[in-house]
Amino acid sequence: MSLSASLAAEAVLPVPIPVEQEFEALDTCHREVLATLRDMAALIDHLDDKGVDAVARRMASDIVRFFSQTARAHHADEERLVFPGLLASGDAELVQHILRLQQDHGWLEEDWLELSAQIDAVAQGYSWYDIDALRQGTAVFTELYKDHIDLEESLIYPEARRQLMVRPQAGEARARRARN
Ligand SMILES: [Fe+2]
Ligand SMILES: [Fe+2]
Repeated sequence: MSLSASLAAEAVLPVPIPVEQEFEALDTCHREVLATLRDMAALIDHLDDKGVDAVARRMASDIVRFFSQTARAHHADEERLVFPGLLASGDAELVQHILRLQQDHGWLEEDWLELSAQIDAVAQGYSWYDIDALRQGTAVFTELYKDHIDLEESLIYPEARRQLMVRPQAGEARARRARN
């Protein structure tokens, strides 16, 4: 379940989601991103080998659903729940990292819009994809995503967790904002 869905459930049950649970959901989504990037590489190998068949269509459909829905919701969750507190921290280095991550979200979206046109076509059964462009685009997308996740997990999530643990009222304010 995405964090947005968790927060929607929270709106019904007025019990704040513990900070740890929120970060577990974000971490889980990172594992899913990495697995789906591997699926993209596997899809391209499959297309190269067998072309568009039922297996390719199903793989392409799952990939499109994940990056167009789950991954976008994940970025939105980070923009709303993780980044604002760190942007307001007054730590110049941390702020630079957050600005870079926000810029990455824009680039990842642009990369995905280009890739998704071709992958969605495969999902619909069309064969007009350019395998070389798909392979190269996927490599760039994968590299950017891995660097992005690496920075979030090594520095940003631990720092955001720490901030929310020492200032639990920040978590309450955050939950209120998310409900409104
Ligand atoms: Fe992110
Ligand atoms: Fe992330």
